[in-house]
Amino acid sequence: MPFPLETDRLTIAPLAHTHAEAFVAYRRDPEVARYQSWGTDYSLDDATRLIDGQHDGRLPMPGHWLQLAVQDRRSAELLGDLALHRSPDQPDTFEIGMTLAPAAQHRGIAFEAVEALLEFVFEQEHAHRVTAFCDSRNAPVARLLTRLGFRHESTAVEADWFKDEWTTLEGYALLAREREAAAL
Ligand SMILES: CC(C)(COP(=O)(O)OP(=O)(O)OC[C@H]1O[C@@H](n2cnc3c(N)ncnc32)[C@H](O)[C@@H]1OP(=O)(O)O)[C@@H](O)C(=O)NCCC(=O)NCCS
Repeated sequence: MPFPLETDRLTIAPLAHTHAEAFVAYRRDPEVARYQSWGTDYSLDDATRLIDGQHDGRLPMPGHWLQLAVQDRRSAELLGDLALHRSPDQPDTFEIGMTLAPAAQHRGIAFEAVEALLEFVFEQEHAHRVTAFCDSRNAPVARLLTRLGFRHESTAVEADWFKDEWTTLEGYALLAREREAAAL
Protein backbone atom coordinates (compact mmCIF):
# COMPACT_ATOMS: atom_id res chain seq x y z
CA MET A 1 0.00 0.00 0.00
CA PRO A 2 1.48 3.40 -0.96
CA PHE A 3 0.10 5.21 2.12
CA PRO A 4 0.78 7.04 4.38
CA LEU A 5 2.38 9.89 2.46
CA GLU A 6 4.38 12.14 4.79
CA THR A 7 5.37 15.79 4.55
CA ASP A 8 7.00 18.17 7.05
CA ARG A 9 3.70 18.85 8.82
CA LEU A 10 1.31 16.17 7.56
CA THR A 11 0.43 12.51 7.30
CA ILE A 12 -1.89 11.53 4.45
CA ALA A 13 -3.65 8.17 4.52
CA PRO A 14 -7.04 6.69 3.58
CA LEU A 15 -9.93 8.11 5.57
CA ALA A 16 -10.96 5.68 8.31
CA HIS A 17 -13.79 5.33 10.80
CA THR A 18 -11.61 6.95 13.49
CA HIS A 19 -11.77 10.19 11.46
CA ALA A 20 -15.54 10.18 10.97
CA GLU A 21 -16.57 12.54 13.77
CA ALA A 22 -14.09 15.31 12.88
CA PHE A 23 -14.79 14.77 9.15
CA VAL A 24 -18.54 15.27 9.67
CA ALA A 25 -17.94 18.33 11.87
CA TYR A 26 -16.16 20.31 9.16
CA ARG A 27 -18.35 18.99 6.32
CA ARG A 28 -21.35 20.52 8.15
CA ASP A 29 -19.74 23.98 8.22
CA PRO A 30 -21.70 26.19 5.76
CA GLU A 31 -18.55 27.85 4.35
CA VAL A 32 -16.85 24.49 3.81
CA ALA A 33 -19.95 22.93 2.20
CA ARG A 34 -20.82 25.96 0.06
CA TYR A 35 -19.31 24.79 -3.24
CA GLN A 36 -19.20 21.09 -2.44
CA SER A 37 -21.49 18.20 -3.38
CA TRP A 38 -22.80 17.75 0.17
CA GLY A 39 -24.88 20.03 2.42
CA THR A 40 -24.81 21.17 6.05
CA ASP A 41 -26.97 18.15 6.92
CA TYR A 42 -24.06 15.77 6.18
CA SER A 43 -24.35 13.01 8.78
CA LEU A 44 -22.29 10.37 10.55
CA ASP A 45 -24.21 7.76 8.52
CA ASP A 46 -23.12 9.50 5.29
CA ALA A 47 -19.50 9.40 6.46
CA THR A 48 -19.78 5.75 7.51
CA ARG A 49 -21.11 4.79 4.07
CA LEU A 50 -18.31 6.72 2.34
CA ILE A 51 -15.61 5.10 4.48
CA ASP A 52 -17.14 1.61 4.08
CA GLY A 53 -16.85 2.01 0.30
CA GLN A 54 -13.12 2.75 0.40
CA HIS A 55 -11.84 -0.57 -1.06
CA ASP A 56 -9.40 -1.14 1.83
CA GLY A 57 -7.56 2.08 1.10
CA ARG A 58 -6.10 0.84 -2.17
CA LEU A 59 -5.64 3.21 -5.08
CA PRO A 60 -8.97 3.84 -6.79
CA MET A 61 -10.06 1.56 -9.60
CA PRO A 62 -11.16 3.32 -12.82
CA GLY A 63 -14.33 5.29 -12.12
CA HIS A 64 -13.83 5.24 -8.32
CA TRP A 65 -12.75 7.77 -5.70
CA LEU A 66 -10.39 7.36 -2.75
CA GLN A 67 -10.82 9.78 0.16
CA LEU A 68 -7.59 10.57 2.02
CA ALA A 69 -7.34 12.01 5.52
CA VAL A 70 -4.91 14.90 5.99
CA GLN A 71 -3.66 14.75 9.57
CA ASP A 72 -1.30 16.84 11.64
CA ARG A 73 1.85 14.73 11.79
CA ARG A 74 2.46 15.45 15.50
CA SER A 75 -1.01 15.58 17.03
CA ALA A 76 -2.84 13.30 14.52
CA GLU A 77 -5.64 15.90 14.41
CA LEU A 78 -7.73 15.62 11.23
CA LEU A 79 -7.10 18.86 9.31
CA GLY A 80 -8.97 17.99 6.12
CA ASP A 81 -9.13 15.53 3.28
CA LEU A 82 -8.17 14.95 -0.32
CA ALA A 83 -10.10 12.97 -2.90
CA LEU A 84 -8.49 11.07 -5.76
CA HIS A 85 -10.47 9.74 -8.72
CA ARG A 86 -9.16 7.57 -11.53
CA SER A 87 -10.73 8.19 -14.94
CA PRO A 88 -12.84 5.32 -16.28
CA ASP A 89 -12.24 6.52 -19.85
CA GLN A 90 -8.60 7.55 -20.15
CA PRO A 91 -5.44 5.76 -18.96
CA ASP A 92 -3.21 7.40 -16.32
CA THR A 93 -5.70 10.22 -15.76
CA PHE A 94 -6.84 11.37 -12.31
CA GLU A 95 -9.09 14.06 -10.81
CA ILE A 96 -8.46 15.54 -7.38
CA GLY A 97 -10.52 17.41 -4.80
CA MET A 98 -9.53 18.98 -1.48
CA THR A 99 -11.19 20.27 1.69
CA LEU A 100 -9.77 21.73 4.89
CA ALA A 101 -11.44 22.33 8.23
CA PRO A 102 -11.77 26.12 8.78
CA ALA A 103 -9.03 26.18 11.45
CA ALA A 104 -6.58 24.53 9.05
CA GLN A 105 -7.13 27.00 6.20
CA HIS A 106 -4.77 29.87 5.29
CA ARG A 107 -1.67 28.04 6.59
CA GLY A 108 -0.40 26.43 3.40
CA ILE A 109 -1.72 23.03 4.52
CA ALA A 110 -3.72 22.42 1.33
CA PHE A 111 -0.71 23.27 -0.84
CA GLU A 112 1.54 20.91 1.15
CA ALA A 113 -1.01 18.08 1.06
CA VAL A 114 -1.94 18.34 -2.62
CA GLU A 115 1.72 18.74 -3.63
CA ALA A 116 2.49 15.44 -1.84
CA LEU A 117 -0.42 13.75 -3.62
CA LEU A 118 0.72 15.11 -7.00
CA GLU A 119 4.27 13.91 -6.38
CA PHE A 120 2.87 10.48 -5.62
CA VAL A 121 0.52 10.20 -8.61
CA PHE A 122 3.01 11.60 -11.12
CA GLU A 123 6.16 9.88 -9.85
CA GLN A 124 4.89 6.59 -8.41
CA GLU A 125 1.74 6.04 -10.47
CA HIS A 126 3.10 7.60 -13.69
CA ALA A 127 0.04 9.81 -14.15
CA HIS A 128 -0.21 11.54 -17.51
CA ARG A 129 -2.80 14.16 -16.50
CA VAL A 130 -4.44 15.37 -13.29
CA THR A 131 -7.56 17.55 -13.37
CA ALA A 132 -9.57 19.58 -10.85
CA PHE A 133 -12.90 21.40 -11.14
CA CYS A 134 -14.38 24.20 -9.07
CA ASP A 135 -17.21 26.69 -8.90
CA SER A 136 -16.12 29.95 -10.55
CA ARG A 137 -16.80 31.83 -7.26
CA ASN A 138 -14.42 29.60 -5.29
CA ALA A 139 -11.40 31.91 -5.32
CA PRO A 140 -9.28 30.07 -2.68
CA VAL A 141 -9.22 26.84 -4.68
CA ALA A 142 -8.44 28.71 -7.92
CA ARG A 143 -5.44 30.37 -6.19
CA LEU A 144 -4.34 27.01 -4.77
CA LEU A 145 -4.49 25.21 -8.15
CA THR A 146 -2.60 28.04 -9.86
CA ARG A 147 0.12 27.95 -7.17
CA LEU A 148 0.41 24.19 -7.72
CA GLY A 149 1.08 24.73 -11.43
CA PHE A 150 -2.32 23.78 -12.82
CA ARG A 151 -3.37 25.33 -16.13
CA HIS A 152 -6.86 26.81 -16.39
CA GLU A 153 -8.30 25.07 -19.42
CA SER A 154 -12.09 25.43 -19.43
CA THR A 155 -15.07 27.45 -18.29
CA ALA A 156 -18.46 25.80 -18.54
CA VAL A 157 -20.78 28.79 -18.18
CA GLU A 158 -23.93 28.16 -16.12
CA ALA A 159 -23.59 24.51 -17.05
CA ASP A 160 -24.31 22.91 -13.69
CA TRP A 161 -27.66 23.10 -11.84
CA PHE A 162 -26.31 22.94 -8.32
CA LYS A 163 -27.90 23.84 -4.98
CA ASP A 164 -30.88 25.53 -6.65
CA GLU A 165 -29.00 27.71 -9.15
CA TRP A 166 -27.05 27.52 -12.39
CA THR A 167 -23.34 27.54 -11.63
CA THR A 168 -20.24 28.02 -13.75
CA LEU A 169 -17.52 25.38 -13.56
CA GLU A 170 -13.82 26.12 -14.02
CA GLY A 171 -11.63 23.25 -15.21
CA TYR A 172 -7.92 22.97 -14.41
CA ALA A 173 -5.35 20.42 -15.56
CA LEU A 174 -1.71 19.56 -15.08
CA LEU A 175 0.20 17.25 -17.42
CA ALA A 176 3.26 15.26 -16.39
CA ARG A 177 5.35 17.09 -18.99
CA GLU A 178 4.15 20.48 -17.72
CA ARG A 179 5.10 19.56 -14.15
CA GLU A 180 8.52 18.32 -15.31
CA ALA A 181 9.15 21.50 -17.31
CA ALA A 182 8.16 23.69 -14.33
CA ALA A 183 10.64 21.81 -12.11
CA LEU A 184 13.62 22.52 -14.43
C1 LIG B 1 -9.78 25.08 -1.18
C2 LIG B 1 -9.08 25.12 0.18
C3 LIG B 1 -8.61 23.72 0.55
C4 LIG B 1 -7.85 26.05 0.07
O1 LIG B 1 -7.27 26.16 1.34
P1 LIG B 1 -6.21 27.35 1.67
O2 LIG B 1 -5.97 27.30 3.11
O3 LIG B 1 -6.68 28.62 1.06
O4 LIG B 1 -4.92 26.92 0.85
P2 LIG B 1 -3.45 26.69 1.42
O5 LIG B 1 -3.49 25.69 2.50
O6 LIG B 1 -2.57 26.40 0.27
O7 LIG B 1 -3.09 28.09 2.07
C5 LIG B 1 -2.76 29.17 1.24
C6 LIG B 1 -3.14 30.47 1.87
O8 LIG B 1 -2.59 30.53 3.19
C7 LIG B 1 -1.68 31.65 3.27
N1 LIG B 1 -0.61 31.23 4.19
C8 LIG B 1 -0.50 31.65 5.46
N2 LIG B 1 0.54 31.05 6.05
C9 LIG B 1 1.11 30.23 5.13
C10 LIG B 1 2.22 29.35 5.15
N3 LIG B 1 2.96 29.15 6.25
N4 LIG B 1 2.52 28.68 4.03
C11 LIG B 1 1.80 28.86 2.92
N5 LIG B 1 0.71 29.67 2.83
C12 LIG B 1 0.37 30.36 3.95
C13 LIG B 1 -1.26 31.94 1.85
O9 LIG B 1 -0.88 33.27 1.66
C14 LIG B 1 -2.55 31.62 1.08
O10 LIG B 1 -3.46 32.68 1.16
P3 LIG B 1 -4.14 33.29 -0.19
O11 LIG B 1 -4.84 32.16 -0.91
O12 LIG B 1 -5.08 34.30 0.35
O13 LIG B 1 -3.03 33.82 -1.01
C15 LIG B 1 -10.03 25.70 1.28
O14 LIG B 1 -10.43 27.00 0.90
C16 LIG B 1 -11.26 24.85 1.53
O15 LIG B 1 -11.20 23.79 2.17
N6 LIG B 1 -12.43 25.31 1.05
C17 LIG B 1 -13.70 24.63 1.31
C18 LIG B 1 -13.83 23.37 0.51
C19 LIG B 1 -13.75 23.64 -0.99
O16 LIG B 1 -14.47 24.48 -1.53
N7 LIG B 1 -12.86 22.87 -1.66
C20 LIG B 1 -12.63 22.99 -3.08
C21 LIG B 1 -13.61 22.20 -3.86
S1 LIG B 1 -13.27 22.27 -5.61
